[in-house]
Amino acid sequence: MAALKTPLIAPSVLSADFSRMADEVAAVENAGADWLHLDVMDGHFVPNLSMGPQLIKALRPKSKLPFDVHLMIAPVDPYIEAFAKAGADHIHLHVEAGPHTHRSLQHVRDHGVKPGIAICPATPPEAVGEVLDLVDMILVMTVNPGFGGQKFLTSQLRKIETLRRMADATGRDIRIGVDGGITAQTAPLAVAAGADVLIAGTSVYGQDDYAAAISNLRIGAHNPA
Ligand code: DX5
Ligand code: ZN
Repeated sequence: MAALKTPLIAPSVLSADFSRMADEVAAVENAGADWLHLDVMDGHFVPNLSMGPQLIKALRPKSKLPFDVHLMIAPVDPYIEAFAKAGADHIHLHVEAGPHTHRSLQHVRDHGVKPGIAICPATPPEAVGEVLDLVDMILVMTVNPGFGGQKFLTSQLRKIETLRRMADATGRDIRIGVDGGITAQTAPLAVAAGADVLIAGTSVYGQDDYAAAISNLRIGAHNPA
């Protein structure tokens, strides 16, 4: 089932030049990005380290884009307030990050931030079924989280289709984001399966012309395979 909404493009700054981060954020905003995706890694839940609330807070006044914060950390609860105060508009936490994601998602909402549930490739779609009433978005990992530049896992397309059906069945407005290996070639597959937010690191920040890169993703998304 295809998504009904126009897919949004959310560049991931994980692939940006960290020495010029404010410029890199402004550049994708000017190039037509809809949201900015910020990947937080703790070296424990995922085998890499990236950024914390300090950088997100410093970037907040530099951009009008909604900040889409993807927490790849465990535990998550002690840090929700810091990311909310830093200026996150959305906080995605992983269903695999602990036993009490239901409570964690409520904490996110209590801080006035839109909650999202992220799901790793090895986790079945049913794992998020009991929290769909709490979330505004499902973030489907189409690579194993931790690094940019990995290959899109086509095995996740069926899961996106299942999650789209589950999300629609709630009668609530739930977006489905796809994160990892999104290119002009893979975006149409994800959109045809039901995704309506495309997160893209390498295929935006790895290109010379960010506006062309974003527009290529949009064109592909509007012409599902
Ligand atoms: C991976 C991150 C992604 C990453 C995607 O763990 O969650 O957001 O930046 O990078 P690409 O688009 O290069 O696969
Ligand atoms: Zn991410």
